[in-house]
Amino acid sequence: AIDIKTMRAISGMITIDPGYKNTGSCESAITFLDGEKGILRYRGYSIEELAEKAEFLEVAYLLIFGHLPNKEELERFHNDIKAESHVDEEMKKILDGFPKSAHPMGVLSSLTSALVAFNPGSVNVSSEKDMYWAIVKILAKFPVLVAWTLRKKKGLPLDYGDDSLGYVENIHKMMFKKPNHKYETNKIVIDALDKLLILHADHEQNCSTSTVRIVGSSHAGLYASLSAGISALWGPLHGGANQAVLEMLEAIEADGGDTKKYMAKAKDKNDPFRLMGFGHRVYKNFDPRAKIIKVAAEEVLADLGIDDPILEIAKGLAKEALEDKYFVDRKLYPNVDFYSGIIYRALGIPTEMFTVMFALGRLPGWIAQWREMRLKSEPIGRPRQVYTGEKQRPFVCLENR
Ligand code: ACO
Repeated sequence: AIDIKTMRAISGMITIDPGYKNTGSCESAITFLDGEKGILRYRGYSIEELAEKAEFLEVAYLLIFGHLPNKEELERFHNDIKAESHVDEEMKKILDGFPKSAHPMGVLSSLTSALVAFNPGSVNVSSEKDMYWAIVKILAKFPVLVAWTLRKKKGLPLDYGDDSLGYVENIHKMMFKKPNHKYETNKIVIDALDKLLILHADHEQNCSTSTVRIVGSSHAGLYASLSAGISALWGPLHGGANQAVLEMLEAIEADGGDTKKYMAKAKDKNDPFRLMGFGHRVYKNFDPRAKIIKVAAEEVLADLGIDDPILEIAKGLAKEALEDKYFVDRKLYPNVDFYSGIIYRALGIPTEMFTVMFALGRLPGWIAQWREMRLKSEPIGRPRQVYTGEKQRPFVCLENR
């Protein structure tokens, strides 16, 4: 193997790796992932243990600052977030400019970018203290923007949160509180939401995280980098898959529930249809997050007394794929997005908001990766290419073409 120094020394040598299937873009101490063994750890702690024992804000702190906070650290962090949860009222005018039909991910990416204008100090972070406050502010304001995006769609007033609640419960209340109604939720709903957010919180150098790092590497600022990450997450091959999965399951149900027909479509190379929620660039045995979410989906549906035929269709597809040579040969297993939509639906979250929920969960991971990159003063991301176009040719004037 050639080491990096030797590679650099051989001038003109460029590695072509479309999709970066085998290219490391950085060294990172945040998330460990073993796709063959189905292992995922944040800062050394297993995802299974964190999902069972930790709260989302603790995990956010862990990812960003590298250690599990003690009580005092967590309380201070939460208090700082609460103190910064006001969003400039002018932002409401920007939100008002969007048509009601706008996709929430597009709205959220724009609003996150717009936050820079109202928090210019978040761009040129020259000390860890500046960074801390840029981080606290976005963890405080992003949930408000998420809630407003949903509330605008539903024609509800754009309210603020409730400081007496935990971070996740507050998000839930901001999203769903109706005017003149007492806000009510239950532990099952909040626990399920907490778990989902934790499971989505980081996943090393995926498409959106790499986007955040590469945009951040130009020193564009945290919020601009996050806005780009949100756009990257939106795509159906990445975070947008959770919305696509549910739409696919609903279509299968509306079409009579014939899962075999859709399995055949997915295998047909002349048909662009893919089984959404299946396959992963890195996991080649199983996605550990999908295992936890499958169990959680069953529990939540049972606890809430919901009998959802969509879950049966999902289980049917997963079982058939496990026994199908095409899927087995290509190591295509249900990924994190396959079951998450079923829980979101049970919790009353509209389908269009599913990817937004993913973004909420991924926010601490993006922040942690951005912070790590900036603290290490990584160079600007600038991949090379191999040019395959025309050789030099003479210009032809318009009248002679
Ligand atoms: N349904 C049917 N066939 C599939 C699927 C699928 N969901 N996924 C991959 N394949 C096939 C491909 O057609 C290809 O077949 P071939 O070797 O005969 O050409 C082979 O499996 C390998 O697929 P690639 O697209 O090369 O794998 P890649 O690593 O580039 O893509 C991806 C991974 C994007 C996740 C892909 O599996 C996919 O499109 N899945 C559906 C979308 C999805 O669920 N995305 C969410 C991923 S998780 C996340 O981002 C949070």
